[in-house]
Amino acid sequence: MNILPRISPFQQRRLSLLDRMQVAGGGVAVIPTAPERIRNRDTSFPYRADSYFHYLTGFPEPEAVLVLIAGDQPQSMLFCRDKDIDKEIWDGFRYGPAGACEAFGFDAAHSIKEFDAKLAELLADQPALWFSLGHDSAWDARITAALNAVRAQTRSGKRAPAVLHDVRATLDEMRLVKDGHEITLMQQAARIAGAAHRRAMQFTAPGKFEHEVEAEFLHEFRRQGSQYPAYTPIVAGGANACVLHYVDNNRALKDGDLLLIDAGCEVDGYASDITRTFPVNGRFSGPQADVYDLVLEAQAAAIAAIQPGANFLDPHNAAVRILAQGMIDLKLLEGSVDTVIETETYKRFYMHRTSHWLGLDVHDAGEYRSGEAWRALLPGMALTVEPGCYIRPGDDVPEAFWNIGVRIEDDVLVTAEGCDILTIDTPKKIAAIEALMAK
Ligand code: GLY
Ligand code: MN
Ligand code: MN
Repeated sequence: MNILPRISPFQQRRLSLLDRMQVAGGGVAVIPTAPERIRNRDTSFPYRADSYFHYLTGFPEPEAVLVLIAGDQPQSMLFCRDKDIDKEIWDGFRYGPAGACEAFGFDAAHSIKEFDAKLAELLADQPALWFSLGHDSAWDARITAALNAVRAQTRSGKRAPAVLHDVRATLDEMRLVKDGHEITLMQQAARIAGAAHRRAMQFTAPGKFEHEVEAEFLHEFRRQGSQYPAYTPIVAGGANACVLHYVDNNRALKDGDLLLIDAGCEVDGYASDITRTFPVNGRFSGPQADVYDLVLEAQAAAIAAIQPGANFLDPHNAAVRILAQGMIDLKLLEGSVDTVIETETYKRFYMHRTSHWLGLDVHDAGEYRSGEAWRALLPGMALTVEPGCYIRPGDDVPEAFWNIGVRIEDDVLVTAEGCDILTIDTPKKIAAIEALMAK
């Protein structure tokens, strides 16, 4: 019986990248993790690994670099911090090269202190370097120094790589189609953020402050094991909902206003991204319900357009058509649907796109076009569906709609049959929201 060794999803991704490198002529890839960032004086922001590095390693410590060497015997090598008992007493466990090699399945691991000298050796006589030039100027300088160190040995017969590939282009293609491990984590992130939105709906009442509602999210995220919010939550009462990236979250919530909340969490690096809009007092007014149901209908049309073979813009176009008709019906705009779409007058009330890729980054890696055409959707791709309608006051705008801002956002996975909504258990029909808020 042929028993295959079990390898982690991270090892599988390294092997997949090494294969792609080999097909493209071979070479060496250098993928550093993110630096620690100082917040003020000697206090750091919470540490978050670089998404590409995390995708390929799962290794959680800063000051680490992955090196992949393509060839008949592909190799993956980690450079990381040494074990240091004094530092571990203050700041916690470090794997050290030997521990990291064993726990994460690298072929070799070395001290990060050896990296610069070893890199020049590793690059010598290789056909290509795979690196994300331009992402971090300190790293660009470090890589340039290593290349120049190889070039300085030309007369000893050493050759520096003649080709530079942006490794992100290849990794972005890989990250665009999620594997089973990624989908499980995205399902967890969606489930936890959904629970937080339900909690917020039950907590919200006139007189509470936006930041108090935000605190409910942070509590639920951490309580359920999410490490961080996936982005700064937007908790926008009343007119604040018409500020797309409102993050002050410091005003009191008013009876009769809507509350728009865009909040998602991260589980082991993977994001969810959910928006719900609901009435502060638990009951939609007539005009609020009109706008809300329009956005909900647009979202349903967009989701119905998601299936393999559709292109990235199909859901957006479906949403825009419904929104344009609705804006005419609500007397926000004049003219025919086709004119409103052609002249883009709808953008006064709906000025963003309906979708973006979702994954390790909330606005995830991956090209949106393939050549001139919008990208075809494939099973395993994950995207948001988030139409909205934001109505600022204006002399030509019916006053009943002033300051109403609605967005409804769900996370969707393309499947062989169509799509799965990952955020399915977060209420969005008016009756379901009102029933939950009445509890
Ligand atoms: N929360 C960011 C976005 O919806 O794109
Ligand atoms: Mn989004
Ligand atoms: Mn969002």
